Amino acid sequence: MAPGNWTRVTQFILISFSSLPTEIQSLLFLTFLIIYLITLMGNSLIILLTVADPMLRSPMYFFLRNLSFMEIGFNLVVVPKMLGTLLDKETTISFLGCAIQMYFFFFFGVAECFLLATMAYDRYVAICSPLHYPVIMNQRTCAKLAAASWFPGFPVATVQTTWLFSFPFCGTNKVNHFFCDSPPVLRLVCADTALFEVYAIVGTILVVMIPCLLILCSYTRITAAILRIPSAKGKHKVFSTCSSHLLVVSLFYVSLSLTYFRPKSNNSPESKKLLSLSYTVVTPMLNPIIYSLRNKEVKNALGRTFHKVLQKPCPLVSKK
Ligand SMILES: *[C@@H]1O[C@H](CO)[C@@H](O)[C@H](O)[C@H]1NC(C)=O
Repeated sequence: MAPGNWTRVTQFILISFSSLPTEIQSLLFLTFLIIYLITLMGNSLIILLTVADPMLRSPMYFFLRNLSFMEIGFNLVVVPKMLGTLLDKETTISFLGCAIQMYFFFFFGVAECFLLATMAYDRYVAICSPLHYPVIMNQRTCAKLAAASWFPGFPVATVQTTWLFSFPFCGTNKVNHFFCDSPPVLRLVCADTALFEVYAIVGTILVVMIPCLLILCSYTRITAAILRIPSAKGKHKVFSTCSSHLLVVSLFYVSLSLTYFRPKSNNSPESKKLLSLSYTVVTPMLNPIIYSLRNKEVKNALGRTFHKVLQKPCPLVSKK
C-alpha cells in the first residue's frame, strides 16, 4: 500500500447483526435485554443467598458465588455494548475501548475455565474423601484455590491484548462481530501475524485443555466412586451433589469448543456470531437457573429467604 493512502485506525466499528432487517434487530435487542436482566438478577441472587444464608456456607457455595461474580463481570464487558449495536446503525468503539473489552473478555473467560476446574476438584474431594473434606477444603484453601483460578487470566489477557494491539491497523476498521474478540480484530491487522496466530492457537488450546483435563480427571474418579456405591438410591443421592456442576461445565465447554475449534472452511462470520452468543449470553443466564432448580439446598434457602422477607413487616403476628 502506498504511504499516501495509509490511514491509521483510531476507532473500530462493530458490525454485529446489521445484515439482518431492522425489525429482527429490534426483536433481538428485546430478547437479549431480557436475558441480560435475568442474568444479572439470577447471579446477584446467588451471591446474596450464599452470603446471607447460613446453610449455604460450604466451599461449593463459596465457589458458586465466585462463579456468579465472574458471570456478571463477563456479561458487563460484552452485553451492554452489544445491545447498543442492535439499536444504532453503526456502533463505534474507540481503539482503547476495544482493547479493554478484549482484555476483560479474556481475563474473565480464562478465569471461568479454571474456576470450573476448581469446582470439579471440590466435588471430587467431597465425594471421594467425605471424611477429610472439611479439613482439606478449609477456608484458607478455598480462598487460595479461588485466587489461583483468577490468576491465569492476568498473563493470558495481558499478552494477548498488548501483542494484538501493537500491530499496525490500517484501511478498514470494521470488526465483523458484536464485541472485540481476537479473531475478527486480527483480520484488520496489516502486518505479518503468523507468529501471533500460532501463539493464539497454542494459548487457547492450553487454556481450554488444562482445566478440561483436570475436570475430566475429577469426574473419572467421581464416576468410579459412584459406581462402587451398592444401592441405586445412594448412587442417585451422591450424583445429585455434582449434577448441577456437571451440567454447567458441559454447557460452557460445548459452546466454547463449537466456536473456537471448528474447521475454518465451514466457519462463516454469521455462524460464529450465533455460536458466540451461546457462551456470552445464554450460559451465564442458565448457571444460576441450573443451580437453583436442581439443587435442594439452594431451593430451600430461596424459600427461607422469601419467608423471612414476607414475615418481616409483621413481627407481632409471627410471635403468637
Ligand atoms: C472470589 O475469590 C477471591 C479469591 O479468594 C476473593 O477475594 C473474592 O472475594 C471472591 N468473590 C466473591 C464474590 O466471593
